Amino acid sequence: MTDSTPSRRVLLIVGGGVAAYKALELTRLLRKAGVGVRPILTKAGAEFVTALSLSALAEDKVYSDLFSLTDEAEMGHIELSRSADLVVVAPATADLIAKAAHGLAGDLASTALLATDKPVLMAPAMNVRMWLHPATQRNIEILKTDGALFVGPDEGAMACGEFGPGRLAEPPAIFEAIMAALEGPAAKPLAGKHALVTAGPTFEPIDPVRGITNRSSGRQGYAIAGALARLGARVTLVSGPVALATPPGVDRVDVETARDMLAACQAALPADVGVFVAAVADWRIDEVFGTKLKKEKGGPPALTFVENPDILATLAASGPRRPKLVIGFAAETNDVEAHARAKLARKGCDWIIANDVTEPGVMGGDENAVLLISRDKTERWTRAAKDSVAHDLAQRIAESLS
Ligand SMILES: Cc1cc2nc3c(=O)[nH]c(=O)nc-3n(C[C@H](O)[C@H](O)[C@H](O)COP(=O)(O)O)c2cc1C
Repeated sequence: MTDSTPSRRVLLIVGGGVAAYKALELTRLLRKAGVGVRPILTKAGAEFVTALSLSALAEDKVYSDLFSLTDEAEMGHIELSRSADLVVVAPATADLIAKAAHGLAGDLASTALLATDKPVLMAPAMNVRMWLHPATQRNIEILKTDGALFVGPDEGAMACGEFGPGRLAEPPAIFEAIMAALEGPAAKPLAGKHALVTAGPTFEPIDPVRGITNRSSGRQGYAIAGALARLGARVTLVSGPVALATPPGVDRVDVETARDMLAACQAALPADVGVFVAAVADWRIDEVFGTKLKKEKGGPPALTFVENPDILATLAASGPRRPKLVIGFAAETNDVEAHARAKLARKGCDWIIANDVTEPGVMGGDENAVLLISRDKTERWTRAAKDSVAHDLAQRIAESLS
């Protein structure tokens, strides 16, 4: 799983927040990529995750105590603070941020932050009011002026029941920020490439107030657009109606109908890769009613459908303007692999990412269990967060285009 002598190392400071559990997944991602992880777990951090878990995943000793005779004899705190190429604080609590901003050094984590001569990357996580508090915002500005790098926080629902900015960035996003900080341009393998991504449902109007749509949340497509942008791609995200924030660094084009989506995709070409995640309506109403249909007028209306253009097939057959790599998504409810393989052939794309939408929590949820189907093989990926699937897919796209 890992190199015995990693060429790149991070000193990972895990602070005392509910999101500390995500530091375990981050550690796993780093070790999988061959990055050495030396953890410092704060006293408060140890209330949320155990040193044993962290140590097992990091495959290294966990440091917690500034005044430990044994630790100090083995590796002094100054040496510890410089033993890595990058210092990462995840989760960075309001407390650690405040201490670092003001140069306090009352415990091992804050002492390491003050003593280090290495770049520092912080992934803040806290309650929305703590994050928005002027004191925290001032501290962030001080740290930015001092040269600290930041990833997140994200906006969303919090463990405390409130909603807003303050959620720890997802581990794949922190991982990519770490790789970018460690490797510089090498962490941007998609620099100079253009990626076209579609996401969300389409909406086909019936009359000015009604329409036909589907349950796609857009989350998987948005996660892929974000992951591609983090790897350096210029990303055009053609999005159906969804309630999601645009990922950083992504150009978003909002559309409603399948025909609008096709036109926006064609306008965005040329692209090196097209990832067609949107759940596009196969049919639309033949003639959209110009005024709102009234209930009392002679019973329910008879709706006639016509076929929508097939965006994936059209772009996969667009000759010299065809993206080099065309990836379709298939949401299936039965015989997933067989249907997806047939779709690959029918649509003329290079890969199909197939998922079984009957699995609980996939459609509209946070996780996905996918198959990557190419012309000559099928890979079954283990069920994972949509962000993780996006991260892995973006890496595969980068390998394929390099
Ligand atoms: C249940 C619980 C959850 C907490 N979550 C957070 C958090 O997400 N972010 C934060 O800044 N502080 C949080 N705190 C407060 C910190 O644990 C506290 O400020 C602590 O002193 C931080 O220590 P450290 O920065 O050394 O890890 C939480 C406290 C409790 C009891």
